[in-house]
Amino acid sequence: MQLLRINHLGIAATGLDEAMTRMARLFDLTANHTEEVPEQKVKTAFFPVGESTLEFLESTDPDGPIGKFLAKRGPGIHHICFEVDDIAAAVASLLAKGVRMIDQAPRNGAHGCRVAFIHPAETGGVLMELSQGPGTAPSRG
Ligand code: CO
Repeated sequence: MQLLRINHLGIAATGLDEAMTRMARLFDLTANHTEEVPEQKVKTAFFPVGESTLEFLESTDPDGPIGKFLAKRGPGIHHICFEVDDIAAAVASLLAKGVRMIDQAPRNGAHGCRVAFIHPAETGGVLMELSQGPGTAPSRG
């Protein structure tokens, strides 16, 4: 598996409107993409930062992953996302090593990406996401 770059940092927010206001005030930064991901019970807003991105996440359901995170830890950095060239191979290789995964197989994320999360117990407490973009051709299978 090769990590190509840090694709984005995910930040749990109490509200996307508030996050947008804050990013505009601090950095004159505007979201270039917003999307609801019903499977994850979140609305997302993406802010381009050079070759990377900040992803703000607003919960649409207190029982969803972001809703639970906010209740437990409050707003703040939620995850770091690494871009990979072949998400299926990356997940297979981690599972083969016995790594505890939140996702046993890649699933749909925002932007038409395929994503999978590694359990934070495996990473020293940081939730890590692997993502393969829709424009990224898999090297295998
Ligand atoms: Co993400």
